Amino acid sequence: MNRSFSILLSLLSAFLFSISWEAAASHPVEGSNFFQCLSLHSKSFIPLYTKTNSSYSTILQATIDNLRCYSPTTPKPLVIITPLQESHIQTAVFCSRRYGLQVRVRSGGHDYEGLSYVADSTFIMIDMTNFREIDVNTEDNTAWVQAGSILGELYYKIAEKSKYLGFSAGLCPTIGVGGHFSGGGFGPMVRKYGVAADHIIDARMVDCKGRILTRATMGEDLFWAIRGGGGASFGVIISYKINLVAVPPTVTTFSVSKTLEEGASKLLYRYQQVIDKLHEDLFIRVSILPTTSKSGNSTILVAFNCLFLGGAKDLLPLITTGFPELGVGSNDFKEMSWLQSVVFFAGYTNGESTDILLNRTPQFRGYFKAKSDFVKEPIPESVLENLWQILLEGETFLMFFLPFGGKMNKIPESAIPFPHRKGNIYNIQYVVRWTEQDNPQADKHIAWIRKLYDFMAPYVSKNPREAYLNYRDLDLGRDGSGETSYSQAVAWGSKYFKNNFNRLLHVKTKADPGNFFRNEQSIPPLRMMDVEDVLINK
Ligand code: FDA
Repeated sequence: MNRSFSILLSLLSAFLFSISWEAAASHPVEGSNFFQCLSLHSKSFIPLYTKTNSSYSTILQATIDNLRCYSPTTPKPLVIITPLQESHIQTAVFCSRRYGLQVRVRSGGHDYEGLSYVADSTFIMIDMTNFREIDVNTEDNTAWVQAGSILGELYYKIAEKSKYLGFSAGLCPTIGVGGHFSGGGFGPMVRKYGVAADHIIDARMVDCKGRILTRATMGEDLFWAIRGGGGASFGVIISYKINLVAVPPTVTTFSVSKTLEEGASKLLYRYQQVIDKLHEDLFIRVSILPTTSKSGNSTILVAFNCLFLGGAKDLLPLITTGFPELGVGSNDFKEMSWLQSVVFFAGYTNGESTDILLNRTPQFRGYFKAKSDFVKEPIPESVLENLWQILLEGETFLMFFLPFGGKMNKIPESAIPFPHRKGNIYNIQYVVRWTEQDNPQADKHIAWIRKLYDFMAPYVSKNPREAYLNYRDLDLGRDGSGETSYSQAVAWGSKYFKNNFNRLLHVKTKADPGNFFRNEQSIPPLRMMDVEDVLINK
């Protein structure tokens, strides 16, 4: 063993006790300069896990929601860093940059395409799991929430402090704050308050130079970009400060379902005509799923799940005048606290306690591919009938219609990068799911959802056909060759951000001209984009 290698090994063993001596001694240490850099530049122990560590796979898998993005052949991080302090993130960024390693940042691990834990060149993963402090201030109705917190923890902590406060964000409690807020974030209070990112009033992040920036030091352009433009293009978000929103001490929910045989198509057509115009305290989300009819045939179930920000007495006149065709009445209504309604929308129906919101294990872990659309004109009933035919082709699908209108009509498209505002009746999410046993058929399932997406093209937003960043879809902007080019970036960029894409390009160019923070759908700096920028400006 030569002298420099033995010095390196003793440095590593002193610092990186998670690497076994035996493994380090018997193999050349991949990324050894990087490890040395970490040890030289950090004053305290940085927890990290390499492939030789027995906890590596457990930690890597812990929050992966989409198992399609995790297989024995998927590229794995050279090292997983689970920082305990802000300085650990700074050191990881500094050393990765110095040694040419890509960085992937993971908060809740719910990325639809696995971009927080998979990359195509040597990379490290910074897992924000230890960053989950939530500091709720009921004096000024704000909270600082660290990126590794999950939505369930945030909702729980807010409700613990006040039954009059809540937050407008997604339905699934195991989603991470870091990815969700930086991509928009909508759920049952979207019609009343807009998306999560609309309520961000400050942030702490580590930039590509390893500096810690706040709203005051990053400037308004970068602060604008990380509220809907996706954090992964700009840095490592440490925490967000948010304005909390008012909720009544009692809210009301109901759930009704109809199969096709019970008139679901007519009802869904009517839903599209009224849903964005109802009172903004009223939110009715539709889930469409396969089921079996009473006569034993495969059919479709359309479920309507409602949150009303008030008591049952006030809901009744709103629903009987606004959407009488639904046929619901007082007997269908359940009054509860806002936090209990979070449990209801998370799909727990067996009287689970609100403590379930603190469970960080991904709730819907499985194999899936998803896509999204925005709808501006009701889809005709005859088209719905054709849609059912495609859905009934035997796939395990889910479709969700999430209504907009209300507050969403009042926020300008350019307020933050999330642009899907006035004129949208609802958002559609398409999901095809499959089991581990069926995974060899993954290509068939993916082909099916692409066919469904093609079928829907005439009935959804156009020029661009809008898509939601948080329902990430790597098909967008791909020409089938598997390569991404800058014209392809314009294709997905305009779908996710509409005209805001151009401003995002400029912010990126200033904040990270060397494109250190990158992934398959990150905002590219302008020197790589000059031709397309001209096109976008037209
Ligand atoms: P993850 O950690 O995988 O990160 C997602 C992206 O953000 C990656 O690019 C990652 O690098 C980046 N990132 C994460 N943390 C970062 C940080 N600290 N700094 C910089 N970049 C960071 N959406 C919605 O609006 N409403 C909803 O109701 C739902 N429901 C839902 C249910 C289920 C089961 C899933 C799987 C997903 C949703 N979503 C959703 C979509 C969800 O909002 C989206 O997947 C988020 O990006 C997830 O954020 P995570 O932090 O969990 O993901």
